[in-house]
Amino acid sequence: MTKIESTDHIRANCKDGILELEIYRRDKKNALTEAMYQSLTQNIQFAYINQDIRVIYLHGQEDLFTSGNDLNEFVKFNPSEESCALQFLKTIANCPLPIVVAVGGDAIGIGTTLLLHCDLVIASTQSRFQLPFVNLGLCPEGASSYLLPIQAGHKLSNELLLLGNSFDASVAHQAGLINSSYPKEQILQRGLEMCKQLASKPYDSIMSTKRLLKQHHQKITNDALETEFSEFLHLLQQPAAKEILRAFLEKRAPNIPISKLH
Ligand code: COA
Repeated sequence: MTKIESTDHIRANCKDGILELEIYRRDKKNALTEAMYQSLTQNIQFAYINQDIRVIYLHGQEDLFTSGNDLNEFVKFNPSEESCALQFLKTIANCPLPIVVAVGGDAIGIGTTLLLHCDLVIASTQSRFQLPFVNLGLCPEGASSYLLPIQAGHKLSNELLLLGNSFDASVAHQAGLINSSYPKEQILQRGLEMCKQLASKPYDSIMSTKRLLKQHHQKITNDALETEFSEFLHLLQQPAAKEILRAFLEKRAPNIPISKLH
């Protein structure tokens, strides 16, 4: 990619030093496909090298962020191929520019774990978050098994990752996933104002501060991304995940096989 580019379900716009990326696939609750991860990654990587871009602003709409990875693509995923989701996670985890996120509604799976890598996150008071990996026969991704306990503490992390229930903005705040919450009508404008504030500050100082804040966790975070991903891939090919994913797509209750993994 040699310029900022919108694609089918990612709207990209650059103005006043802010690269705005909107996830827009409402008929599928903004579920993220490989093509969408690729578009996000390429735009963000282009922003790294473009002197005019100072801040990245990621959002959905005021009532929806993303329902996470497209479950159809989990079913079709070929483990021998490079994962665009992993590439995207590595890109935001190592992004030198500040990333601001506004969560309007549902933020599920990677929709929640990606927040761990972003610098300022606001959510609407009606947002719902969920880390449903065990419900799908899968395991944490996005370095959440490492970063979440640091921010949320072990007990709350265990609850969110082992039980996999959805939770609201006040729990997300308690878990360190968001900075603050606002009524949904204000969320996109508030996020933009935060971006403008960041973009108005001395660039080198912002970059240096972000680098210093992240440096102690950078290597372990990158290692965790890889380790979790290989375990996730293994589980994706097991009977439990296969059945649960098929059941979701066929709109029926899963018949979960009980087996022990060794
Ligand atoms: N992947 C693929 N399709 C998805 C999706 C996903 N992650 N999330 C929603 N969709 C699709 C639904 O299949 C449905 O498609 P259809 O209209 O062709 O049948 C459409 O988006 C609307 O979703 P629906 O489930 O009818 O909306 P809802 O308001 O009742 O529920 C959710 C919304 C997000 C709670 C629910 O769709 C859901 O649980 N999605 C899966 C979330 C998930 O497990 N993500 C992966 C995490 S690793």
